[in-house]
Amino acid sequence: MAAPLCGSSFAQTARRQCLHHLKQHLSIWPWRCQRPTYCASAQSRAGSASDIKHSAELIDVNPVRGTRDFAPEEYRIRRWLFDEFEAVSRLFGFEQFETPMLESEDLFVRKAGEEITQQLYNFEDKGQRRVALRPELTPSLARLILRKGKALPMPVKWFTVGQCWRYERTTRGRRREHFQWNMDVVGVPGVEAEVELLTAIAMLLQRLGLGPADVAIKVSSRKVLQALLAKYQVPEASFGPVCIVVDKLDKLPAAQVREELGQLQVSPEAIDGILRLTELTSLEEVTALLGSDNEALAELSRLFELAEASGISEFLEFDPSIVRGLAYYTGIVFEGQDRGQQFRALFGGGRYDGLLGTFGGEAQPCAGFGFGDCVILELLQDRGLVPAMPRQVDDFVVAMDASLHGAASSVAQRLRAHGRTVDLALESRKMKWVFKQSERVGAKRLVLVAPDEWAQGKVRVKDLAAREEKDVSLDDLTA
Ligand code: HAM
Repeated sequence: MAAPLCGSSFAQTARRQCLHHLKQHLSIWPWRCQRPTYCASAQSRAGSASDIKHSAELIDVNPVRGTRDFAPEEYRIRRWLFDEFEAVSRLFGFEQFETPMLESEDLFVRKAGEEITQQLYNFEDKGQRRVALRPELTPSLARLILRKGKALPMPVKWFTVGQCWRYERTTRGRRREHFQWNMDVVGVPGVEAEVELLTAIAMLLQRLGLGPADVAIKVSSRKVLQALLAKYQVPEASFGPVCIVVDKLDKLPAAQVREELGQLQVSPEAIDGILRLTELTSLEEVTALLGSDNEALAELSRLFELAEASGISEFLEFDPSIVRGLAYYTGIVFEGQDRGQQFRALFGGGRYDGLLGTFGGEAQPCAGFGFGDCVILELLQDRGLVPAMPRQVDDFVVAMDASLHGAASSVAQRLRAHGRTVDLALESRKMKWVFKQSERVGAKRLVLVAPDEWAQGKVRVKDLAAREEKDVSLDDLTA
């Protein structure tokens, strides 16, 4: 039986180290080492790092404006959120795909006056090709669907999580890069597709701890506005640009929206009609305005009926002012908003049956959404719903001296082969550092490879939560 870590044989192994300090850490005394020898050696290490001479002026260490670094502590939170996005998508039977962040500029050039096309990060590459960093994922999805062609069985249910770039004015919740979770259904003309997408969003929100009291999903259909415009004989070609102006209602004063609609040759009566429509709150009121023989109303009624069955209706709110700022939507549109309206939109989506056709391909019914990573994290942080995510490994493996590093490395590999996460100490350091470091890496166990124990085919294992230690044979270590 090997001596305990704080006992004499271990102390001999570590005799060049600060035994006094080691003993404190093996016990539960919250007592700090005052020994000058240990502290002096720690300081000399720190000193040697700062002694490195700087040969040039320090660069600007901040990321480019509107972009973010993800240091490990931030990356853990991002990974957690993306794991939730991916888990929900898989629960709904969606398959993951990915397309390049750099696309041909043509993919994003549309003439309807959308903000997104004015915010392109575009440039000419070294081969004189016009390219752009994608501002959204939907055109790339459409490109991939078209590339796959007829061989692709319908319906397609795909999801992706990817970084998007928009040269936006950076404000709370809006950055120049963000990640979006997208789920899209291609090949299904009915609102069953939209309801499935909305159900996935509701499930994600609930998994994150947000319920209908926190988030409203505002739903409408562009066909409602289309029917109204037809009533006022507004030319069909103006429909896309009119939607983009109406989408600005919550950002611009009504007078400016009126002026912009006027510039699109929309008559003052039609403008009054549009503004009245956006103030309605129920399907009954819209029926009274447009009559009951209306495709948009039939679709919306069916959507709310199906939403009831899938248990998400408490999240949903009919709101005819929702039209969305992207030109390609053709039917149902929706947007997620925190109920307190403190934050920007959490997500948005809808039906875009015409997009594939505008790229020269065979038209296909499509519906989907984009759910950004910025606003949801702001909301979760505000509600205290981001879980603590400390660094964690199963084992911290340490060689007691440099000659045992190979042995420690073999122990680490053995543990990893059994699925345990292992941080292997790459240098022999004082025991004070070993204990501090095992805390810093969030180890559950400290595995010490010491000469006497190693000679007997054993290692010393300390369960850091239970504060129990014992010698364990290599076979038992992974049993
Ligand atoms: P979008 O409304 O432009 O739609 O963006 C979707 C979501 O992405 C927004 O609700 C927001 O969460 C996030 N987002 C957009 N821009 C920024 C930004 N500058 N900073 C931070 N977050 C942002 C689309 O992109 C559509 N392609 C969604 C879609 C997919 N429709 C059908 N399928």
